[in-house]
Amino acid sequence: MKLPRPLLVALLVLSLIVVPSKADLDDFFNGFGFHFRHGRQQQQQEQQEQQAQGNDNQDPPGAQVNEPRGSYIAGAYGMGGSPPPPQAVIIPDSAAQPAEPADFKPAQMVITNNLGGLSVGFYDRSCPNAEKIVADWLAELIKTNPSAPANIIRLAFHDCAVGGCDASILLDSIGQGDKVEKGSIFNGMSLKGADLIDDLKMRLEEECPQTVSCADAIAFSANEAMAIAGGVRQRPLGGRRDALNSLATAADQNLASPTATIDQMSAIFRRLGFNQEEMVVLLGAHSVGTAHCDLFMDRVYNFRNTQKPDPVLPLPYVEDLRRLCANPGTPQFRNPNVNFDETPYALDNRYFKNLVQNKALLLSDSSLKDDPRTGPTVRQMAEDDTLFPKRFAELFTKMTTFNVLTGLLGEVRKTCRSTNN
Ligand code: HEM
Repeated sequence: MKLPRPLLVALLVLSLIVVPSKADLDDFFNGFGFHFRHGRQQQQQEQQEQQAQGNDNQDPPGAQVNEPRGSYIAGAYGMGGSPPPPQAVIIPDSAAQPAEPADFKPAQMVITNNLGGLSVGFYDRSCPNAEKIVADWLAELIKTNPSAPANIIRLAFHDCAVGGCDASILLDSIGQGDKVEKGSIFNGMSLKGADLIDDLKMRLEEECPQTVSCADAIAFSANEAMAIAGGVRQRPLGGRRDALNSLATAADQNLASPTATIDQMSAIFRRLGFNQEEMVVLLGAHSVGTAHCDLFMDRVYNFRNTQKPDPVLPLPYVEDLRRLCANPGTPQFRNPNVNFDETPYALDNRYFKNLVQNKALLLSDSSLKDDPRTGPTVRQMAEDDTLFPKRFAELFTKMTTFNVLTGLLGEVRKTCRSTNN
């Protein structure tokens, strides 16, 4: 029987007014192809279900990292823009993550349907110049700050790795008075990209008030930074919204120190949905930018309290580094920045070529070459000059879709340093 349209609408409204349970709502929306997640509870339930089913996706013994299990959704478009041509949109499956620490920011709800996801051209109607504003801003900035692309690429990683790509890293304070992500030991003074976004957001607000989120400002500028540095250019996915919360403890638990082991780093990348091959490619971001002397100085002067350099470092490299960084035990020590490689503004495979020769600044990077789980990828990236910029662009784009807030979740901040209320 075919019901008249007004009657159908009335029935629909009535069914929602009769205070449906969460399960009823899930069933209702699932019927339309919507998929709602309820943060940590849902993840735990899914993990339990996987375990009960024997978890076919589990890694073989010895492997440290699961294959990513993202959902690839074609033809998605966001609420602020016109429907673009079909594009692959990657929403990593948060069920692949292990249980989070107690104060981890739960995504309130991740909608993985083809209305609330990310899309290329998200601002085509609501702010058609958004991508151009980002590109012009960065092109101008680079003239006075050639390190800006490196600063922003790191900023994007530090935002996404901590609860998702939601600009939580840009908040200066939160209502509860807790220390925010910026205050984490892994951010602090070394996080140079955060302040840069203020100017970009101002420009975006001037043209389109409260339209382009801070999370998209980070993602768009990181995408542009990557392309300028030599990664394969692609149009950015938009539609992220901004977090209402930020906690230093979450950053402490989800980022790693320059002495991190492969197992520790693998755990971080596994949470983001990346396996160890992908982790190695993404660490190739250390092809751009710099590190402060105090983060690797013990390798040059006093490795593991031996009063000698790390034995894996080639002597000429040690001598170079000693010239650049005075011994921290002396009054001459100034803790300057040292370039990761000889081409600090180019996202090229020089970093990998150096790793093969044991020339890594950070201990965390130096372990990649000789470990059987990561060494083959290091050598593959070092040998093929064209592979890394292409592969990095793919994975970096995927990284910037991690655990995003979309649709009606979060907010679009007026200023990136504080929430709207
Ligand atoms: C979990 C593994 C990682 C560790 C332990 C790590 C550690 C570090 C450290 C210690 C620095 C130097 C900070 C300073 O002294 O200013 C640094 C810089 C940097 N990192 Fe990472 N990192 C990791 C992963 C990544 C990833 C996945 C990316 C991007 C996809 C990235 C991008 C960068 C960039 C671009 C810089 C240079 C920043 C600048 O010059 O402003 N890192 N990283």
